Amino acid sequence: MTAIQLVQGDITEFPADVVVNAANSSLLGGGGVDGAIHRRGGPDILAACRALRASHYGKGLPTGRAVATTAGRLPARHVVHTVGPVWSATEDRSELLASCYRESLRLAADLGAETIAFPAISTGVYRWPMADAARIALDTVAAHPGPPHTATFVLFGADAYRIFQEAVGRQ
Ligand code: APR
Repeated sequence: MTAIQLVQGDITEFPADVVVNAANSSLLGGGGVDGAIHRRGGPDILAACRALRASHYGKGLPTGRAVATTAGRLPARHVVHTVGPVWSATEDRSELLASCYRESLRLAADLGAETIAFPAISTGVYRWPMADAARIALDTVAAHPGPPHTATFVLFGADAYRIFQEAVGRQ
């Protein structure tokens, strides 16, 4: 069983065996947490992403899937890049968001990780409402048997942290 922790902060500063990136299917970087991870982690991460694109994901990494690279200069062993779904008010994409967490945890286990850190996937540029994203994230991680033994949600800002705390209270 994977234990869950919440912290408020910047995931690029958080020490964990695996840090999860809310990427896009190009794997070539972007804004938000993706931009921060590439900036702080340095060029080795982008080089590894380019190699993965060339070898396996010429058409892009599908939504809900995850791949691992070096963590470069981050205080982590690996970055797991996963592609969250864009929020839709008309289509239920919850299963794809849950898949991001499940696939990341499975990959982390394969890598021998004991600890994993997640951002709130899809809640920024992809506009998923924070409370709903928190519920899906927490339910999915809580259902994972482990390893990793600890998953930490590193939440950017007081609002995200409070909403995740409330979601834990409802679990
Ligand atoms: N540490 C932790 N969380 C962060 C950080 C950070 N350094 N920077 C941003 N966040 C938070 C945002 O506040 C948001 O709650 O991460 C959450 C996810 O937001 P985005 O990074 O915008 O990711 P997402 O909504 O999944 O959109 C993915 O954004 O930049 C692009 O390449 C990325 O196209 C992809 C899209």
